[in-house]
Amino acid sequence: MSSYEIKSIALYGQGRMQLEWSEMHMPALMEVKKEFIRQKPFKKLRISALLHVTKETGALIRCLHAGGAEIALAGGNPLSTQDDIAAALVKDGIHVFAWRGETLPEYKDCVKRLLAFKPDIVIDDGGDLHTLAHSEEGSLEAIGGTEETTTGIHRIKAMERDGVLKYPIVAVNSANTKYLFDNRYGTGQSTIDGIIRATNIFIAGRVAVVAGYGWVGRGVAMRLRGHGARVIITEVDEFKSLEANMDGFEVMKMDDAASVGDIFITATGDIDVIVDRHFKKMKDGAILSNTGHFDVEIDVKSLKKNSVNHRKIRNNLEEYVLKDGRRLYLLAEGRIVNLGAAEGHPSEVMDLSFCNQALSAKYLVDKQDELENKVYKIPEEIDRMIAGIKLKSLNIKIDRLSEKQKRYLSSWELDI
Ligand SMILES: NC(=O)c1ccc[n+]([C@@H]2O[C@H](COP(=O)([O-])OP(=O)(O)OC[C@H]3O[C@@H](n4cnc5c(N)ncnc54)[C@H](O)[C@@H]3O)[C@@H](O)[C@H]2O)c1
Repeated sequence: MSSYEIKSIALYGQGRMQLEWSEMHMPALMEVKKEFIRQKPFKKLRISALLHVTKETGALIRCLHAGGAEIALAGGNPLSTQDDIAAALVKDGIHVFAWRGETLPEYKDCVKRLLAFKPDIVIDDGGDLHTLAHSEEGSLEAIGGTEETTTGIHRIKAMERDGVLKYPIVAVNSANTKYLFDNRYGTGQSTIDGIIRATNIFIAGRVAVVAGYGWVGRGVAMRLRGHGARVIITEVDEFKSLEANMDGFEVMKMDDAASVGDIFITATGDIDVIVDRHFKKMKDGAILSNTGHFDVEIDVKSLKKNSVNHRKIRNNLEEYVLKDGRRLYLLAEGRIVNLGAAEGHPSEVMDLSFCNQALSAKYLVDKQDELENKVYKIPEEIDRMIAGIKLKSLNIKIDRLSEKQKRYLSSWELDI
């Protein structure tokens, strides 16, 4: 019998149908699941996962469960849990501590319950669980962990640098089959989905300002352009700024973009990207959203402090009236908009990310005697295997190098 704290167990029927729908669109993960059922790599092992409780996460959790693990799951963000999925997973025998709209203390409490579960493998998205596992309060002996996203990788690399890592961690985000697709195309689509669901605005012809031209920013900018927006990029990196320029986007400082943008999307993983001096310059009606991992990119505290009036217009859309009467509109409280105001990435792209999670967990178990307390990249053979399974599921065949071509590409003596 699983222990749980969720919104309502009665929602499980709807959740099950959603899980079936996502699994139908995650053929590569289903191939991995078939192998897990055969091999039971996680027999007698406990896994704690701090992930956005979406239907795609549900498919991953069921895959790991099929591999023999006992699993505890909590939501990666107070606003991202889909309550019907949480209920369906409890019915499947997973310990779930997650509901949409958790307060910050409740969120922290759920994270603590994942540690109290004494996991052998720690799966995280953002680094909160790894950080707690390394605190005095959490102190944990585990085989290893995985980390899903760029922001979490920054944090675990800092832990590695400071020599405090207590178990090896596989950086899932470093896989080609993760960041090239999830961060770029997944976020590209789902961020716009979140903005549209929260506002139903017409994007064509608007000026959209995207902060950060990393993998996420590139995807968001590309898809906004596809909708007919005039896109401006703000960056701090010289190479990315040049790349954005040659991709055909305008590049400028946020101080200059603030007065011309209609829609703002932060995608940096950094703090204080849009702050009070920018609010002061913005047009009446400007829309503010964030798709970076944490809600630190837009200075919501100062927006609140400098507003004379506040209303909730509709779900995930709040109006802040500034002293001079201008109105700014904040989406999903400044939290990750594609998960707060929409459902996160579509299953097809999470198929790749979660194959990486599943196979990284197995890798940690298989190599537990060899790995040190370091951050590891996903081995290239696993990354390529995932790409191969996905291509096969899409019925795409590709050319192979002939022996002659291999020789040609690896020799320095050209036959001329
Ligand atoms: N919404 C989602 O579903 C989703 C998916 C994947 C990643 N993420 C998160 O999105 C964020 C970005 O991820 P990424 O993979 O694109 O990272 P990245 O490192 O590839 O890109 C971040 C970019 O932001 C730039 N930047 C940093 N500070 C800046 C500032 N003050 N102003 C302007 N630009 C700045 C950096 O130079 C870099 O080019 C991270 O927090 C990551 O965890 C979110």
